[in-house]
Amino acid sequence: EKGTYPYYMLKEIDEQPLVIRRLIEKYRNEQGELAIDEEIVQAVNEADRLYIVACGTSYHAGLVGKQLIENWAKIPVEVHIASEFSYNMPLLSEKPLFIYISQSGETADSRAVLVRTKELGHKSLTITNVPGSTLSREADYTLLLHAGPEIAVASTKAYTAQIAVLAMLAAVAAKAKGMALDVDVTKELGIVANAMEALCDAKHEMEQIAREYLATTRNCFFIGRAVDYYVVLEGALKLKEISYIQAEGFAGGELKHGTIALIENGTPVIALATQEHVNLSIRGNVKEVVARGANPCIISMKGLDMEGDRFVIPAVHPMLTPLASVVPLQLIAYYAALHRGCDVDKPRNLAKSVTVE
Ligand code: F6R
Repeated sequence: EKGTYPYYMLKEIDEQPLVIRRLIEKYRNEQGELAIDEEIVQAVNEADRLYIVACGTSYHAGLVGKQLIENWAKIPVEVHIASEFSYNMPLLSEKPLFIYISQSGETADSRAVLVRTKELGHKSLTITNVPGSTLSREADYTLLLHAGPEIAVASTKAYTAQIAVLAMLAAVAAKAKGMALDVDVTKELGIVANAMEALCDAKHEMEQIAREYLATTRNCFFIGRAVDYYVVLEGALKLKEISYIQAEGFAGGELKHGTIALIENGTPVIALATQEHVNLSIRGNVKEVVARGANPCIISMKGLDMEGDRFVIPAVHPMLTPLASVVPLQLIAYYAALHRGCDVDKPRNLAKSVTVE
């Protein structure tokens, strides 16, 4: 099934452009317009607040989803880690809708919250890759990721599919409310798919970056601002879970409030710069760590790139950059793990679906 691929993870990274194109096909009506089950769109638009509940990588996708939904559909969104929500429940709004994001649809922490919110009488939508999974069966509504089976423990194509579905949901909800959205999401996702393809073709460069920065390091920091912050959280999770390098993602501006103490001579710091309004400030943060000896690796987006950037991703819509910028981070994590002799698909201490709380 892996075909010529040494690991499922690499195959699944490569499948991402195809998954995005498949989603464009799946979520459109006979007229070829972006479309989502009307009942679901209505439930979203009737809610006064959306509560996204998820774990791990799916939680990171939820953070990006919050940005998309708040910007496009103008509905307030909170994103919660499932295991915390259960024991530290936030004050709920009058008319909440719960959105459970789960690749497997079997994650016990998320299910525990679903059971509780159902008891409270709240509506729920599950976004999952697995039709008929527990979270799908138990929620009122389901949106499928259509990513095909994800075998590698480290989630890749499910993450980008989750973000794409959330983007489509945000756009359709906005349109249903009669809001004028100045973005053609279907077209922009097509551009994203092409960008992803180009990024998958840049494997050699990512392998080189992994070799240069991560071959022997003990730790690695990822920094980003605005939506790049959410993506670096995911980049750090990918790297630590498969390569066992201690990796942390930070908001660029937050480093100086403590974490910068950990920067030593040669400490790798990977910075994302895909957002115009924070382009200069993230570069300022890079200068701060370089002054303390860090070995910086700036990954920027075309149009915002500057001299010395290590890699430039193709330009995509500013709200959809996570779909592109995560690909190099996935590949860097993959090659770092590979070079360090790790079992990429089956990292120690982890299971594909976590069915205990
Ligand atoms: C990381 C990873 C995990 C899962 C998390 C939630 O690569 O795969 O962090 O994202 O366990 O799993 P699902 O999405 O199946 O609920």
